[in-house]
Amino acid sequence: MSNKNYKIAVLGGDGTGPEVVREGIKVVDAVSKSSGFKIEWVNYDLGGERYMRTGDVLPESALAELRKVDSIYLGAVGHPDVKPGILEKGLLLKLRFELDQYINLRPVKLYREQDCPIKEKGPKEIDYCVIRENSGGLYSGIGGISRQGTTDEVAQQNMLYTYDQVHRCLKYAFEYARKNGRKARGIGKENTLALVGKSNVLTYMYELWNRVFAELGAEYPDVKREYYHVDATCLYMVTCPEMFDVIVTENMFGDIITDLAAMTQGGLGIAAGGNINPRGVSMFEPIGGTAPQWTGKNQINPLAAIGAGAMMLDALGEKDSAEKIEASIVKSLNSGKIKGLAAGKMGLSTTEVGDLIANNI
Ligand code: IPM
Ligand code: MN
Repeated sequence: MSNKNYKIAVLGGDGTGPEVVREGIKVVDAVSKSSGFKIEWVNYDLGGERYMRTGDVLPESALAELRKVDSIYLGAVGHPDVKPGILEKGLLLKLRFELDQYINLRPVKLYREQDCPIKEKGPKEIDYCVIRENSGGLYSGIGGISRQGTTDEVAQQNMLYTYDQVHRCLKYAFEYARKNGRKARGIGKENTLALVGKSNVLTYMYELWNRVFAELGAEYPDVKREYYHVDATCLYMVTCPEMFDVIVTENMFGDIITDLAAMTQGGLGIAAGGNINPRGVSMFEPIGGTAPQWTGKNQINPLAAIGAGAMMLDALGEKDSAEKIEASIVKSLNSGKIKGLAAGKMGLSTTEVGDLIANNI
């Protein structure tokens, strides 16, 4: 039982973002009633509509307020009428960087065999977690274009990592594997942390990552270390996902492999993630996008957003409540009432799925 009060900023954002976040709030409010803590939801009108209306992407005053909340709950960012990059870089990535959310935690968990597109893979085989470095690499925004318009034009985008960025990310990953790996969860013989990279080509980069991985690993004798190239990882994620426990990887590789991972767990409708600053303000979101074609139809799957809500409660220290939400998701899926996980294929509307999860708590 907790009697805390939390102030949570809600950034519904664009497309179906506001619809799925609404269901997440419904579920978190339902669990808070039985758990005793209180949430003050504070809405922020940010995203494509606001930008087109006012030219604002993320005003300084809003950023200053967001630095002071207990957590941020985000729907989705991106608008078909806004040039790609403006909202992504100006809002989503800016928040990740400004709030130093250097970890992107993306659990990959299949709840029902029927939702997996891979033959003969079920919940036992697809149950791992990707820890994506969330502050550096190709996302650092360093590079440029010169001699534009000539045939000598040069475009460069640099992959950049500092020792500290690599160290803090790997440290988090080792701690996570120690606390949440298979052995820790009582479902395997050992806790395993796999570093995913491309050491055969990005030799400078993986000289650093591999060295820190080995150095830090010596402090975690209870965590078995593995290394895989990112291309091979994609192959294994499909043919042999059961080999993974906790994966840690740099930003861009993490972005790419978690979309593939999401499909193996039933699609973007169920994949949740957290942008984490272990000592600051974290931000939780469904990892799918804005799905403009589904906007306003009440057909988008809110489970990813609901799962992100559970991750948020877990990070706030409300572990029991997070577990209650997850148990309700499992129960609701196993009831057979939710037919599929893709938008328009659920057999229920967005609001009905939200009601079902809230009622099963
Ligand atoms: C994600 C998204 C973002 C990313 C985009 C929208 C900037 O794809 O959260 O995975 O590349 O990180
Ligand atoms: Mn992505």
